[in-house]
Amino acid sequence: MQNKWNKKGHLLPAGEVEATEEECVQYSACEWTQGVCHMKDSAGYRVVTLEKMEANITMFGGDIHSLLLEVISHEDYHVQIKISDPEQVRYEVPIPLQVPEVGGNDPWYSLNLPEAGHAFTLALTRTSTGTTMVETVGPLTYEDQFLQVHLRLPSTYLYGLGENMHATFRHSFTFRSTFPLFARDQPTFNGKQNEYGVHPYFMVFEDDQGTAHSLLLYNSNAMEYSTFMLDDGSAGITLRTTGGVLDFHILMGPHPDHILAQYTALVGRPLLPPYWSLGFGLSRWGYNSTAHVRQVVQRNRAAGVPQDVQTLDIDYMQDKRDFTIDPVSWPDLPQLVQELHNDGIKVVIIFDPAIATDFETYPPAIHGGEADAYVKWASEDLIPGDQCDGCRDYVVGRVWPGDTVFPDFFKPDTHQWWTQEITAFHQLVGFDGAWVDMNEPSSFGTNLYALRCPRNLWDDPPYPTHAALTTENLSGRLSDKTICMSSNHTDGNTTFLHYNVHSLYGWSHAKVTHSALQATLPGLRPLVLSRSTFPGSGRYTIHWLGDNFATWEQMRRSVIGMLEFNLFGIPMVGADICGFSGHPSAELCARWMQLGAFYPFSRNHNMEGFPDQDPAVWPQVADISRYVLQLRYQYLPYLYTLLYLAHTEGSGVVRPLLSHFPGDLKARDVDDQFLWGSGLMVAPVLEEGAITRDVYFPQGEWYDLVTGALVVSGPAQATVSAPLETLPLYLLGGAVLPFQYPAINTQQSRTNPLGLTVALDSNGTATGMLFWDDGEGNLVDGDIHISHYVFTQMELKGSVLETCSAAGSLALERVEVLGMWQEPKDVIINEVSQPTHLWTYNQNTTLLSITTNLPVGSDFNIVINI
Ligand code: NOJ
Repeated sequence: MQNKWNKKGHLLPAGEVEATEEECVQYSACEWTQGVCHMKDSAGYRVVTLEKMEANITMFGGDIHSLLLEVISHEDYHVQIKISDPEQVRYEVPIPLQVPEVGGNDPWYSLNLPEAGHAFTLALTRTSTGTTMVETVGPLTYEDQFLQVHLRLPSTYLYGLGENMHATFRHSFTFRSTFPLFARDQPTFNGKQNEYGVHPYFMVFEDDQGTAHSLLLYNSNAMEYSTFMLDDGSAGITLRTTGGVLDFHILMGPHPDHILAQYTALVGRPLLPPYWSLGFGLSRWGYNSTAHVRQVVQRNRAAGVPQDVQTLDIDYMQDKRDFTIDPVSWPDLPQLVQELHNDGIKVVIIFDPAIATDFETYPPAIHGGEADAYVKWASEDLIPGDQCDGCRDYVVGRVWPGDTVFPDFFKPDTHQWWTQEITAFHQLVGFDGAWVDMNEPSSFGTNLYALRCPRNLWDDPPYPTHAALTTENLSGRLSDKTICMSSNHTDGNTTFLHYNVHSLYGWSHAKVTHSALQATLPGLRPLVLSRSTFPGSGRYTIHWLGDNFATWEQMRRSVIGMLEFNLFGIPMVGADICGFSGHPSAELCARWMQLGAFYPFSRNHNMEGFPDQDPAVWPQVADISRYVLQLRYQYLPYLYTLLYLAHTEGSGVVRPLLSHFPGDLKARDVDDQFLWGSGLMVAPVLEEGAITRDVYFPQGEWYDLVTGALVVSGPAQATVSAPLETLPLYLLGGAVLPFQYPAINTQQSRTNPLGLTVALDSNGTATGMLFWDDGEGNLVDGDIHISHYVFTQMELKGSVLETCSAAGSLALERVEVLGMWQEPKDVIINEVSQPTHLWTYNQNTTLLSITTNLPVGSDFNIVINI
């Protein structure tokens, strides 16, 4: 076959320009032979048909008798293994993954399949090491509503899968533990529940050297997984789903950092949030009035606690209805927002999906009805006899405002209507970001006292998974606390059963709200905070870990949740600081503020009915919070740079120790410490009454962030002192961290001078980077600042790759070099020897502090003579 290309290298229909040799060889799937461009034979698909061995035996019936197995190499490191029904189209996740048009030509694996006629097994081996990465064990089950595969894992170092509350970051295999994956409004109890989002995705190590791969089962039906030990002592996992197809994507790293970049290339890189959203936020459900908000803001400001964001929960609404304002206690909401803006505080406001069924007097419901925007019953005969006036064929559930309908965010008309409502409400209130909650979607009392779902194969599949079998599920059905599975969504062309797309509801709510904010606030980067997420949600939203409890154990587990969401490609994440439900002690809240100061998304939030728990409630907590938030604010340029790199390159923001030290077996079990990038390690105190804690320091030079002194050369385990005022924070030699003098909010801090913290490794080297821009506009080429910093052979070089007006007025006023073993004789900046009063050296801490006056936008060098 001969192919034709245009100048850009895109395939053209026959009859147009012939490809040149140069154009031809750009495509690994093509080769140039005898003066003509051909596609290689190996560029196509390998297809294998599987036949059910015994037609009459089954688990739950509905067996698909012959199956199509496709093995597609998208990249050398990425293989897709898809098992589908060649006869009948089955539901597939309607969100396209990002794969190149032409696959890898030198895949890193070899595939072993038995000869024709033998029982189906599949093994995928990494060519470079000979390790079997993925291997099926036992029979494959492929029934209409029950699909199951068992895999042997190369090790028990397994991470990911969610959203569940795991007791440890590394999964446990000792007892078979089964966790459901099905979006659910489920507070974070310590049991084996499915929580708000769904991420059927794990990473597993293959050897002790740090080689790993990850696996995504791209499916959105109700699922569950079990980890267990196989009889031969190897680790196993069972993956089950109740519909769709088996669509596996394996990413071969080979290291955790590579895997993260590969995964976010596949599902979409996370958004770069606006700079203000990196600041600390106050929130609660149960502000009684605008006066209450003012009181809380003022007392925190008086205590010097930095604040960038004020979040407003459903309290501001009239009768808890979206797009309304309570006329009694919140009539001056627009003025409040204006006052907060004047104080440099941004406002994030909640928009639940559920819309009150008042089609007479409530304009948003009426407009939504005009757009026919709501989720419908799958067939007319399912409409309950007592359906309310104006509710047509809509599914009616119950949420905060009472009876509600649920926008179908897949539908283009819904998108338009939702955008209009958001824009109109913005004209009234002037908020800055949107919090999209209750989007599993949550509906109260389904099958108990509100919506009653019919009995059919969708609402009661033969095997409903532990999503229905868990004790938290009061009605024992998939529709518990949500809407019926036999509801319909549509994207305008295709109709989707809720049974199939249930776990995509939060994804669609966040995506549409993101786009509505783009339309409402043109030119600004949207900030959406969503409770329910799915692979790829990071493109549109940030996330918090949902309704937790004010307990030490839940605080500890929030570190695990945060690490998991970084693995899932949603790095801007945090838990409700000080706990959502329950009342924290001052000690717990102080420790949680310390930990939360290093959540990428840092927000103190709690539940209606519990007393205020903002830092200023307790003078001591206020002092501790002010101090630790100032440290956060100081390193926000570093966090922002990490988020930029996550957005552009898919690197990690908050990272588990194992991602920087994948070959360190001890590091693989650490889930109560974490890294920002590779430079900063946070070791929060997570136990009541503790004034010391054990810290694991992997290989490298570790410095105390506050004093600058070398603490230890790892690998080492050490007990460090951590009285209540102290959060143990360390810098890893080898990193240069940009910082900026803190202020009460980022509007002010962003104009302050910057500095660099240079932590030297044992070779006396360090590298780092600064990304900067206006902090809120769309990322436009040419309007950003990037500089690189390299310290080697006693010289620090700053090189500006590109710069922008936002960086123009900023100065670099301080450079701190940690690990300077000898007293300098001279410090020379841009060839000028500096007077000694401009630098100090501390023999004990080996810290060299240099006062500089360098424009951020220019290259420089600093030579240290010893
Ligand atoms: C549930 C959310 O998880 C919580 O954060 C919020 O306060 C309540 N809904 C009320 O809106």
